[in-house]
Amino acid sequence: MKKPTRVNHPPAVGLPPDNRPLVDPIYQSVKFEFGEVDATLKALRGQRPGFFYTRVSNPTLRQLELLLAEMQGRDDAIVLGSGVAATSAAFLSLLKQGDHVLGFVETYAPTRRTLQRILARFGVSLTLLSIEDLEGAERVLAERPTRLVIFESPTNPVTKIADIPRLTDLAHRHGALVVLDNTFAGLHNHGEYDIDLYTHSLTKFASGHSDVMGGAIIGRVELIRPIRQDHILIGAVLDPHAAYLILRGLKTYFLRYRAICASAQRIAEYLAAQPQVERVCYPGLASHPQHALARAQMQDFGGVVSFDLAGGEAAATRFSEALELFGLTASVGSTESLVMAPQMLKAYDLTADQRRISGVRENTVRLSIGIEEAEDLIADISQALDRASRPA
Ligand SMILES: Cc1ncc(COP(=O)(O)O)c(C=O)c1O
Repeated sequence: MKKPTRVNHPPAVGLPPDNRPLVDPIYQSVKFEFGEVDATLKALRGQRPGFFYTRVSNPTLRQLELLLAEMQGRDDAIVLGSGVAATSAAFLSLLKQGDHVLGFVETYAPTRRTLQRILARFGVSLTLLSIEDLEGAERVLAERPTRLVIFESPTNPVTKIADIPRLTDLAHRHGALVVLDNTFAGLHNHGEYDIDLYTHSLTKFASGHSDVMGGAIIGRVELIRPIRQDHILIGAVLDPHAAYLILRGLKTYFLRYRAICASAQRIAEYLAAQPQVERVCYPGLASHPQHALARAQMQDFGGVVSFDLAGGEAAATRFSEALELFGLTASVGSTESLVMAPQMLKAYDLTADQRRISGVRENTVRLSIGIEEAEDLIADISQALDRASRPA
């Protein structure tokens, strides 16, 4: 064998049957072969186990899918290249021309925009209500046949809590599927509710380290199967190396989530005691309007704390820029703490009325708490509050 041939067919090194790696290898391979046409065709038709092409499936991706399904308490999952790929793949598979969707003002803006900008072109309509308006939801569901209800809890950024049992019951009574974007609450929350599909941005708490993007749809096998068939054609695939990084992140998921929630609670309490803070939004505070509901529905209260700062947008901007330990950037659920200033939170596509419903004000700041020492974070917040109160 000449060397140019050999480098493409390197020596095989297999493990003896009684020897296994503690960390599974990354199957960084697009193609898998059986060496026999019959076995290949059987695998392609799903008549025998095995892998053929990574856009369809891959052992590293499958390992992540099985783990996520188990964490969320369902029997199947599909992983994709990002959180928005997960929501849009769910929409594209579940919806058809003429379908109606019930959504909420308090959802991640690209979720709304996917429905308004892309699905609308295919004849899908959307009604947007407030997540607090269950009477409105009942009215809309009674008036219009609805294929799907999509919501979040806690909502971004002001952490409103959806009444999950009431909303799922209403939707199911009217024949609609229920999709919950469970990114903020995490993979360990809300599994006991009658949710048909969970979507997650794995970019956030699941991977946790700000270095990889991913998304997942989790649910019953019979709902995931058609989504997977469509996904093979659309191709928003997760790379095996990204899947490996997410699997690695998940090893510390519970440790990180616990630490983040404990610090978020302390920070929310600290902020609530500051005279220049007008409102603190954190479901773990007894003052949160839906604290009792959050307690009943969640094992913990999440890592996002929002608050309104006296002095308007200018003071909130000064505060955000004065923080030293918080990255002034998008996203939540990373090891590093992050901050979003009011201008970065403003939903420019909403009407004035919808903006009021959203609960985001001109002086609202969102903090995503990381795993740094809570004391250091509080000291940083304290100095930033001080600087925010002193215009230059
Ligand atoms: C609730 C929620 N869902 C979905 C997404 C989209 O995730 P990704 O950025 O991985 O596409 C985000 C991102 O911020 C989010 O906050």
